[in-house]
Amino acid sequence: MFQGGGSERDSFSSKFGVIAAAAGSAIGLGNIWRFPYVAGENGGGAFLLIYLLFIAAIGIPVMMSEFVIGRSAQLNAVGAFKKITPGKKWHLVGLLGVVSAFIILAFYTVVAGWTLEYLVQSVKWMLTADKIGFAEMDNDAVRSFFSSHYESFVSGMWRPMIWFAVMMILTGFIVISGVKNGIEKYAKILMPILLVLLLVLVVRSLSLEGSREGLLFLFKPDFSTIKAAPMKIIVEALGQAFFSLSIGMGTLITYGSYIKKKENLASTAVSVAFADTAIAIVAGLAIFPAVFAFGISPDSGPDLVYITLPVIFQSMSGGLIWAFMFFLLLCFAALTSTISVLEVIVAYFSEQLKMTRKRAAILAMVSVSFLGILCMLSEDVFAVFNGSPDLLLPLGGFFIVVFIGWVLSGDTTKGELSSDGKYKTGYYKIFMFLVKFVAPLAIALLFALGVYSKVITLFPSIG
Ligand code: PFF
Repeated sequence: MFQGGGSERDSFSSKFGVIAAAAGSAIGLGNIWRFPYVAGENGGGAFLLIYLLFIAAIGIPVMMSEFVIGRSAQLNAVGAFKKITPGKKWHLVGLLGVVSAFIILAFYTVVAGWTLEYLVQSVKWMLTADKIGFAEMDNDAVRSFFSSHYESFVSGMWRPMIWFAVMMILTGFIVISGVKNGIEKYAKILMPILLVLLLVLVVRSLSLEGSREGLLFLFKPDFSTIKAAPMKIIVEALGQAFFSLSIGMGTLITYGSYIKKKENLASTAVSVAFADTAIAIVAGLAIFPAVFAFGISPDSGPDLVYITLPVIFQSMSGGLIWAFMFFLLLCFAALTSTISVLEVIVAYFSEQLKMTRKRAAILAMVSVSFLGILCMLSEDVFAVFNGSPDLLLPLGGFFIVVFIGWVLSGDTTKGELSSDGKYKTGYYKIFMFLVKFVAPLAIALLFALGVYSKVITLFPSIG
């Protein structure tokens, strides 16, 4: 897989391989780091409800559309549009995706680096637990220990950069060397272990005194929170749905081009969306009960997971070993996502600009590193990059559904979805209704709201 360039285009080896790769892209820091803190900042339950609605009504149709485009064209995100509609401007949608890939890869690799820091530190903490006096610390002391570590680490220069570089090099190495025997093999083993570990954390978190409030926060929608800031919640729920599913920037067009004709695109999309959503909810179940039990503020922002989880670990016997395992698996989950983002750029460079994969990957890594350095030097740049998927991905998603709804011939779409008649497509009319009308209208409206709400956050005097 992923070693295009020859006459025979590479492809995923099996149905499970397809799902592992696409779910590997979808499941990552977006579920475990971003979902809990964005939900926490937006009132919990009400946010979750809107999020689920967007996944079902918009996310799954966009995902299926990307698969259809990629598999029918057998090319990268830019090349696919060029091939299907030669001489038209549609390939700009693919280019927008490549630009989004640069931005996302930059800040995402920074956060993946934080995970490496915690991974390595958990070993150090294990070795020095007695000296630090972990056993005697109460919750408040543990929390302030970890938040001050987080603060001094993130505001430092070299360590974040070194971890960033390590993550970037690992990502590049895998993309260059192909992943069939590497990442695909490990994803099948490690992803289920991550789930088991998360479930252990859920059990621990739920057994803490005062955890009930966390459950209520996550599952009992409080609509007054929506009334307070409706635009922000809705826009961020849509952005998070796109980000978490890895849609709206051609990642799944690119992966779709590696899916064999015999695979069922619709059931793949549904399985991936289901797994992704389940992991986000399980992460929420691990975080929020503990957040309330330990008196951490649910709207702490991007450091929420990095200050909450260590406190849970510390309260468990052998806690730092759990911490080590958890951060190891989280790194891995991040890696299966970063490679999918880099692959968007590399497939474009190598197929459209005729570079070798190696040269393409190195060029992409070097340029992304400059953007990553900007994110590490300035919290404001980080915040702008981290907030950009809320607008960029729905924008890309809008054109993708319009393309399937109004441009690509129905025969091609149906042929892809049914694998030339092999699978039933009883859902076809609903799908078409969603991609022709519901998704474009909803996204257009929310995009306009999103631009407005981002502008008034930046320039409050206008509002
Ligand atoms: N879906 C990934 C996550 O939730 O961590 C992040 C991501 C990967 C976003 C690939 C976009 C993308 F194209």
